[in-house]
Amino acid sequence: MATKPLLVLATVLLASSSLLPRAAGGMGASFSNWVAANQQSYAVNAALYAKKSAGDGGKTLDADLSAAEEKKVTYVVDPSGKGDYPNITAALEAIPEGNTKRVILDLKTAVYREKLFLNLSKPFVTFRSDPMNPATIVWNDTAATPGKDGKPVGTVGSTTVAVESDYFVAHGVVFRNDAPLAKPGAKGGQAVALRLFGTKAALYNCTIDGGQDTLYDHKGLHYFKGCLIRGSVDFIFGFGRSFYEDCRIESVVKEVAVLTAQQRTKSIEGAIDTGFSFKNCSIGGVKGGQIYLGRAWGDSSRVVYAYTEMGEEVVPIGWDGWNVAKPETSGIYYGEFKCFGPGSDAKRKKRVGWALDMTEDQVKPFIGMHYIFGDSFSSTGVPLHRRLSSTSATYSTVHSTSSELCRSSLHR
Ligand SMILES: *[C@@H]1O[C@H](CO)[C@@H](O)[C@H](O)[C@H]1NC(C)=O
Ligand SMILES: *[C@@H]1O[C@H](CO)[C@@H](O)[C@H](O)[C@H]1NC(C)=O
Ligand SMILES: *[C@@H]1O[C@H](CO)[C@@H](O)[C@H](O)[C@H]1NC(C)=O
Ligand SMILES: *[C@@H]1O[C@H](CO)[C@@H](O)[C@H](O)[C@H]1NC(C)=O
Ligand SMILES: *[C@@H]1O[C@H](CO)[C@@H](O)[C@H](O)[C@H]1NC(C)=O
Repeated sequence: MATKPLLVLATVLLASSSLLPRAAGGMGASFSNWVAANQQSYAVNAALYAKKSAGDGGKTLDADLSAAEEKKVTYVVDPSGKGDYPNITAALEAIPEGNTKRVILDLKTAVYREKLFLNLSKPFVTFRSDPMNPATIVWNDTAATPGKDGKPVGTVGSTTVAVESDYFVAHGVVFRNDAPLAKPGAKGGQAVALRLFGTKAALYNCTIDGGQDTLYDHKGLHYFKGCLIRGSVDFIFGFGRSFYEDCRIESVVKEVAVLTAQQRTKSIEGAIDTGFSFKNCSIGGVKGGQIYLGRAWGDSSRVVYAYTEMGEEVVPIGWDGWNVAKPETSGIYYGEFKCFGPGSDAKRKKRVGWALDMTEDQVKPFIGMHYIFGDSFSSTGVPLHRRLSSTSATYSTVHSTSSELCRSSLHR
């Protein structure tokens, strides 16, 4: 019965169609503006981005990053007044433009009701909290919330924490958008909790929590390790090139949820070398709900799940082509490798015909830090992981390469 879930999905499509830029019947004016804005920022960043994403092939730690690590500083953020700053906004303001040091914001356990924007001019920022007792950053804008000019802020503007700078790291932080959950069919329901637009970002043991469009994995190389990501429709979306490892991904609705809306496409500069890769994750949700693994926001949308446990909510057909007329020839690349659990396709062979049951050779490029040139930036997170349990949690520049990590976790 492949038709039933699709019909249900159609209602949801209407809901988000008019709002996600692409879906408004193709290329509307707002979408063109949005693309133009993106391209402008590409022009500004082109050289920087090229250098940072390719560089020496990503095999060694970025020189810029090593230098920033050498002169790292820590700002304590504590609403009780005992730290350097009482809130995150004030701490971010204190970071100089053109920053070259790693700035660690040591976030004391608290709920920070703040809407944050990390400007491109402030790279090397780290949010560090205690994963067992995390700092929570929360706001509640939706796409329909009026902005300063009275017009709806839109999906991008709804974001609780927007990161446009490079080399962002977060450890043990909760990013949340707590706007009331949009009903399927409601307009302007997108409510982004976190938007990553810079490259070489790494998140460890974080929670990214919301409903529709929770995590805007917008652009750049991103690593998510041990994170919990919760949402409803298209809740991981964008044209990031991202590796999700050991993460828990949950639908929060009893209706239809769509886990990814990856936007790989030939029509946005830089978007073709992108895709989301999930390894050793687990997928689940509200009992009785339905989860699609992905639908194609871009004509060449690319998503891979490997060694991932899929709960019974994952629908048998698995994937949806959305507005793409001929998904089998458009360049969409959706695949699974050795996934398990009741929602996996291990035995049933009921997935859409154009999704891949991947071979080992096919999956290899995706399942490791190499996929995101991780060795060039992720080692900053490794010592953080090891050191956090000690009270004098500080970074060390010990270089345990992520390929070591990768090797050890590949064998399972
Ligand atoms: C942050 O703290 C500053 C005082 O340093 C205060 O003026 C400002 O209103 C606070 N902002 C937020 C968003 O809490
Ligand atoms: C980022 O900071 C620069 C320099 O202050 C400023 O010109 C620019 O408008 C800021 N960008 C955004 C999107 O706020
Ligand atoms: C956001 O929260 C504030 C109070 O914290 C409330 O006044 C406002 O209505 C909420 N907005 C939405 C869209 O829920
Ligand atoms: C981070 O999460 C993993 C599970 O993904 C857990 O094993 C580990 O203990 C956590 N680390 C910290 C420092 O909380
Ligand atoms: C898989 O992920 C879980 C956390 O969800 C972690 O505890 C476990 O060590 C991971 N296994 C491998 C082989 O990486």
